[in-house]
Amino acid sequence: MTARIDEIAPDLYRISLYVPAFDLQFNHFLVRDDEPLLFHTGMRGMFPAMREAVATLIDPASLRWISWSHFEVDECGALNEWLAAAPNATPVCGQVGAMINIADFSNRPPRGLKPDEILETGRHRFRFVPTPHLPHGWDAGVLFEETERVLLCSDLMHQLGDVEPVTTGDVVGRYRQAFEIYQQSPVLMDYMPYTENTKRQLASLAALQPRLLAAMHGSTFAGDGAAALVASGEVIRQVTSVSAAAV
Ligand SMILES: [Fe+2]
Ligand SMILES: [Fe+2]
Repeated sequence: MTARIDEIAPDLYRISLYVPAFDLQFNHFLVRDDEPLLFHTGMRGMFPAMREAVATLIDPASLRWISWSHFEVDECGALNEWLAAAPNATPVCGQVGAMINIADFSNRPPRGLKPDEILETGRHRFRFVPTPHLPHGWDAGVLFEETERVLLCSDLMHQLGDVEPVTTGDVVGRYRQAFEIYQQSPVLMDYMPYTENTKRQLASLAALQPRLLAAMHGSTFAGDGAAALVASGEVIRQVTSVSAAAV
């Protein structure tokens, strides 16, 4: 398993591992800064490949912050492997995740971020925005890099395939296609819920006016991130309402 590494914004790297069995990329984002940050640890089985990839950019032992969106193996499964490799690294996530999962799961205590709290890594500033149950998980949240206007958006804008690192194309169309395929699967259906909060949460992310949507699965979208986020809410509503009607 060999990673593809692309710099999608100054000193912000997308480290992509493609898994053919799932026809899916798993993307991890490394910020090279005074206090280096890794967003998405990857699964435990991916750790050797991820460590090798990170080592081409920084000394892995110099990692200071390890973060993710919600408690799931592709988000934070290899957290303890990274903590062992980086003695000064601290897990950082929302207060809910820190309390309900990470205080026990992690080999070192986490920093729990309040809504809109800023994590500074040096030249970069990350705003924590809680998004409970979007894409899924009580503890879900995203980080917004304010200098370059990059939204580390986890499973939002999920796309299938071994796609290009960055696209200006129809990422919402790709998202709909992936979501519909999952929704037709007896195992993968109900990937994301649509609730009364979904549109409101997406509107608050859109208000950040992101220039890049750094998706965990698929291409990073470059363009009008606000419009894409709002449109993705309609995709979630339509795809989930069709399947609900079919029940
Ligand atoms: Fe997820
Ligand atoms: Fe994911």
